[in-house]
Amino acid sequence: MNPAAAFEEAYRRAPEGVWHAPGRINLIGEHTDYNDGLVLPFAIGLGVSVAAARRDDDVLHVRSLQAADEGVEVRPGDRVPGWAAYPAGVAALLREHGVRGASLLIDSDLPAGAGLSSSAALECATALALCELYGVEIGRRELAALAQRAENDYVGVPCGIMDQSASLLCEDGHALLLDCRSGLSGQVPFAPGAAGLTLLVVDTRAEHALGDGEYARRRAECEEAARLLGVPALRDVKDLAAALGSLADPVLRRRVQHVVTENHRVEAAAGLLRAGAVAELGSMLTASHLSLRDQYEVSWPEADVAVEEALRTGARGGRMIGGGFGGSVIVLVAADRAAAVRDAITGAYAARGWTAPVISAPAPARGAHRVS
Ligand code: GLA
Repeated sequence: MNPAAAFEEAYRRAPEGVWHAPGRINLIGEHTDYNDGLVLPFAIGLGVSVAAARRDDDVLHVRSLQAADEGVEVRPGDRVPGWAAYPAGVAALLREHGVRGASLLIDSDLPAGAGLSSSAALECATALALCELYGVEIGRRELAALAQRAENDYVGVPCGIMDQSASLLCEDGHALLLDCRSGLSGQVPFAPGAAGLTLLVVDTRAEHALGDGEYARRRAECEEAARLLGVPALRDVKDLAAALGSLADPVLRRRVQHVVTENHRVEAAAGLLRAGAVAELGSMLTASHLSLRDQYEVSWPEADVAVEEALRTGARGGRMIGGGFGGSVIVLVAADRAAAVRDAITGAYAARGWTAPVISAPAPARGAHRVS
């Protein structure tokens, strides 16, 4: 059932509109956003749709086609657990801007836990719907920051700004080069198909949970390293060798090594894409993966095997995406080798008795928008 029809059935009235916000794939720039660094994500066609209508009180009523419950009613000041905390957090922050009660019907075709930012899509679809319902004009950059704050403060996940920015700012056929310190961004054309390449996304089916403490620990380690190095953020480390030489803790040295080199890889990757050298991106992806595996230590066995099998089968490169410890891997491969890579990864998982991966090839899609 489409979200508008489901809304009518649930609330016995028509919605005032339907809004959609996409999930994202980060081409490169992992664990750089909260270090004030660079990221290069693109939006995908899958995402979260929200059918919505105003209410004449201050209550937010949310229902999801993916949740078994009858929905949740949230009153101002309420703290709610589970999935409803995302829309509730956004609505709470938007109250300062004049947003009042609303009924929402949420539908998602993004697998949760696959590292494709289903949380950010939910926040951004809700934010856009509530703003448009109440005629609140907030620029998309500011709206991304508000959605991030909702996740930080209401869900308790200390995420950076990348996912919400990707969901709100990406454009069809492009990746978004975002400077997470200045907030400035640019659109970089990304059309692997036109270069005879395919970008596969391998959902490794190992579910990740950002709330499990490792993500927060990485953030804290980066902040500690920046403090010891006397810089505002790891973004500001210019002389890597000197920085590594001055840090006694080997763990902090590894984290700094990753963040500093990853920012350089993002710049190189964006340059290669602008030059039309899409295939060359592959080696950047693989270098990023090795750094995330060995220096940042956020990879997981299914991701490592997917990357190894892809490379063994002739892919140009590949890497884990997202926070780590589960989720998805991307692989850049010549279009005529894509089937061989899929088979190799699927076979390697079967040989280990792992759940079969889900492999797709999503194209860069547009950011959040009103559907009807
Ligand atoms: C998650 C967070 C992002 C970012 C990535 C790692 O997706 O939500 O803010 O930190 O992990 O790059």
